[in-house]
This record gives sequence, structure tokens and C-alpha cells, in this order.
Amino acid sequence: FAPRHLLSIADLTPAEFSALLSNASSHKAAIKSGVTPAALVGKLSGQTIALMFSKRSTRTRVSTEAAVTSMGGHPMFLGSGDIQLGVNESLYDTSVVISSMVSAMVARVNAHAEVADLAKHSSVPVINALSADFHPLQTIADFVTIQETFGKEKVQGLKVAWVGDANNVLFDLAIGCLKMGVDIAVAAPAGYTIPAAMKQLILASAPEGSTAKLTETNVPEEAIKDSNILVTDTWISMGQEEESAKRLKAFAGYQITEELAKRGGAKDGWRFMHCLPRHSEEVDDEVFYGKRSLVFPEAENRLWAAISALEGFVVNKGKIV
Ligand code: CP
Ligand code: NVA
Repeated sequence: FAPRHLLSIADLTPAEFSALLSNASSHKAAIKSGVTPAALVGKLSGQTIALMFSKRSTRTRVSTEAAVTSMGGHPMFLGSGDIQLGVNESLYDTSVVISSMVSAMVARVNAHAEVADLAKHSSVPVINALSADFHPLQTIADFVTIQETFGKEKVQGLKVAWVGDANNVLFDLAIGCLKMGVDIAVAAPAGYTIPAAMKQLILASAPEGSTAKLTETNVPEEAIKDSNILVTDTWISMGQEEESAKRLKAFAGYQITEELAKRGGAKDGWRFMHCLPRHSEEVDDEVFYGKRSLVFPEAENRLWAAISALEGFVVNKGKIV
């Protein structure tokens, strides 16, 4: 019996993606009102979930640890100094051994092939906690936040403008947008745009008959036009530190500010999102800490996203309803 893994939002049908969002929201409401749903109580009791992180993390580590604990399980954090993920031992060996002892692996890796290899050889579900290509737990939290902010019924037809680096966080967000009927316009400088193969994958993830669009430009104002939500991420992802000077130069003019949003013609009442960690290059303090910003509810929603994903992929073994 092959376990089902969550490596990207592309692994989910639109109905499954919606179910993960609904479950995250309803568990959030119940637990915040003081009642832990029976669907979660003790569901990971006596079970260990390996959290294997090759890179640093605040939100993903804390949210997944807390999520496992909330279901009575034991989160076993394994940092890059603790285990041999891709160092001195093949991923095959690591995957076979760890999966023989735990109920699931949550892995933050460098190349996407690393988490894909772990999944290929694992006897238990693997959840991608960020790879070079995807960040599904972030996208679940982002859509919970979008639904809370705009109303679930009003999500279809919204427009997201991504202004910045075409990276892992964008790729899953774009897949999520197309699955949910949300237009996404991406502004990135030449040389930092969506790779052709990734673009194909994003476009292929739109359900049949979907009218949601992915558009690309090198001009931030063009992407921002008529958008409801402006989103960005760091210009220098983990592992790209040596390119810092070159990247800061390439992204000049891409900082999200009130002025840029106004010049671009964002919709009245536009909101701002960022997965964090944030640096001031990509968004100024006025927007980041201002009334349009959703960044802190978005970060909190990582917990509810992690609970929902663990419930779907580990407790319910990939049956997402
Ligand atoms: N957004 C996010 O994944 O943050 P961390 O890198 O702190 O986990
Ligand atoms: N794009 C960033 C996201 C961190 C959550 C990175 O890969 O470092």
C-alpha cells in the first residue's frame, strides 16, 4: 500500500484543496472557542512524526511541531546537524530507515528532487515543508487567509499580483490560484521569471473549463493593475545569499509601497500578503505593518494549515474530504 504524499498543491484536486482549507478553518474556529474536534483528539497519540529540516525555519517548524502536539503525537525535530539528509548517506537509505520508525516525515530540503526521493522510497506519508520548487503548507495558509478576508464565496474572480522573485512560494501559490479561480499576475525582472517547465506545470494544474489566468510581465505596475491582493517574498531565498548584491540590483523598483500600488492601480481596499521572513527591501514598513497587511494572521494560519494537512495525509491516510 503506497502512502500518499503532499509535495505540491499540484498533488491536490480543486475539491481536495478546498477541503483542506475548510478543515483548517473549522478546526481553527473550534479550537479557538475551546473545543478540540473529536476528529483530532489523540489522533496521533503514540505516534512520532519526523520533522527533517535541512534549512532554518521559524513558522514551519513551530506550526508543524505544535500541530503534531495538538493531536497527541510526538514531533521529532531533526535539523541538518542531527541527521544525514543527503550527506554521507543516500536519500534512499535515509528514507527507508526513518519511515520504518515513524508515522510521517515532514521535510524541508534544498533541491525539490530531495523531497521527491524521500517520498518515492518512504513507507509513510511525506509532507514538503519547503523545497526549491514548492511550499504547499504556505499556500494552504494563504488561501485560508484569503477566504477569511474576502469571504469564501467571493474568492473566485479575485486577482493576486505577485511582485518580486518567481520562487518556490509563488509556484504553489499560482497553482492554488488557478485551482480556485483566482487570476494571478506575476511581475519579475528578466532573469528571475518563472522557468518554462514550471509555467507548464502551473498552467496544467488549472481544472478543465477554468477561466483563471496566469500572466507575466517585467513591469510591477502592469501586474498590480486591478489587483485585490499584492504578494511578495524575499528577493534572496535561503541558499542564494551569495547572489545578494546582484539580486538587490535586479529587483530595484520592485519594493511594494502605497505609492507603487497607487501608480499601478490596485483595487480600493487591496490587501498585502507575505509568507515571511520579511526584509524591508521587498516591502516598506508602511505597507508591512499597515492596515492592509495580512501578514500576521497569514503566519498564524500556518498552524491551522499544518493541522489540516496532517489530518488529511497522516490521520486519514490521504483521503481528503
Ligand atoms: N513562511 C515560512 O515558511 O517561514 P519559515 O521559513 O520561518 O518556516
Ligand atoms: N523563498 C523563501 C521562502 C522561505 C519561507 C526561501 O526559499 O528561502
